[in-house]
Amino acid sequence: MARETWATRIGFILAAVGSAVGLGNIWRFPFITGQEGGSAFLLVYLLFIALIGFPAILVEFVIGRRTKLNPVGAIRELGGGLWKHIGWLFVLTGFIILSYYSVVAGWFLRYTLIGVTDGYVLANPDEAAVLFGSVATGLDSLLFHAVFMAIVIAIIAAGVRSGIEIAVKVMVPAIVLLLLGLAAYGFTLDASSQAYAYYLSPDFGVIAENWTSILPAAAGQAFFTLSLGMGVMITYASYLGEDRNLAEDAGIIAGLDTLIAVIVGFVVFPFLFAAGLEPGAGGAGEIFVSLTTAFTEIPGGRLIGIVFFGMVGIAALSSAISILEVLVSYLIDEKGVERVPAAAGLGVAVFLLGVPVTMDLVFLDLLDLFADSVLLVLGALLLALFVGWVVPEMAREELSRGIGDLGVLGDAWIWVVRVPIVVVVFVSLYLGVVDYVAFLTGDFADWIAAR
Ligand code: PHE
Repeated sequence: MARETWATRIGFILAAVGSAVGLGNIWRFPFITGQEGGSAFLLVYLLFIALIGFPAILVEFVIGRRTKLNPVGAIRELGGGLWKHIGWLFVLTGFIILSYYSVVAGWFLRYTLIGVTDGYVLANPDEAAVLFGSVATGLDSLLFHAVFMAIVIAIIAAGVRSGIEIAVKVMVPAIVLLLLGLAAYGFTLDASSQAYAYYLSPDFGVIAENWTSILPAAAGQAFFTLSLGMGVMITYASYLGEDRNLAEDAGIIAGLDTLIAVIVGFVVFPFLFAAGLEPGAGGAGEIFVSLTTAFTEIPGGRLIGIVFFGMVGIAALSSAISILEVLVSYLIDEKGVERVPAAAGLGVAVFLLGVPVTMDLVFLDLLDLFADSVLLVLGALLLALFVGWVVPEMAREELSRGIGDLGVLGDAWIWVVRVPIVVVVFVSLYLGVVDYVAFLTGDFADWIAAR
């Protein structure tokens, strides 16, 4: 059977934007921005998206479009020797990320439903924390994890055009509209000016003092939010039928993802300030506990809550499908498995891997920290080394198709990939591994000792 392709250019762009916009934009981004110095961090982050994120998207795009293969096959075809094994890293990363991403997405579905059936009537933050505990672990968590994975499987089983492309054409506009509505509502709250000041007032002192934590945080966030380092963009670009201007597409994708992340700050902070809450230290439950408390307080909070949690659920779905597609494309291309059994089989395997997360949140940290600060960054590093040093000629040639002569910009791109990206990602990887070892020997060791 001929390999599928996107029906439209906008379908490809929306699929990539849908993958990029997810839990990373909505709960991670506003909180690290708050913590790391407000708009000063924002500035560093924007710089990273433009200088590191954008060229890194192109790295994955050229590999995918050139080979028209899944990430494992693509790297094997382009590079021999040891390189051919790095595709495996992507499959492993995808498995791990999707397993807990689906559990967390299930919580958002559950919170949407709570709004519909009961509303968010909570006397105080302690009650909100108890509610979170009952949603996050146990049978309910398992159930909603299953529901979410079933939806992901159904979309992927339907194929590139009739599954992913149709779904993102509905989901991405819905996310944008709901988000703009929420931001407009946030603007009407009395606390909004205080919230904007917190979000946007630059504190350059913070950057000067904390650059060792800000730089890797900005780099890590840039890769995670753009879905880089595990072959999603390779896979999506492999379904491109004709030669389009990849740089233009990557610019639109990075731009939209960033715009949406920035708008989320204009939603979340007014809610928190209106309820008299200071954005706290983060953590898996933070957004649920503080926002449900806020939805109890602010006028029309029930409806706003339903819209907010529902919107996040949709955003998580459009990201999750991209991860399962990486795994499914591998089975289809390499093993000749049919799409439907591939989606179902892999989806069930991912579901099983996520089951421990629904039982104890320590497994969320165990998987998330590993995938996020080690595997994705390692993947991004290897891809940059591969394209920058092993196949730069191919990359340059492939990028020029659909654009024309790249001139010095082509060389500039290759050199950005060869040196700055490699250096920044390497430093991030080092810090990420240190972090993860600290977790394993600290919190996780304590957890095991307590058994
Ligand atoms: N980009 C997604 C987000 O921001 C997460 C993601 C990472 C999706 C890696 C696919 C691959 O939530």
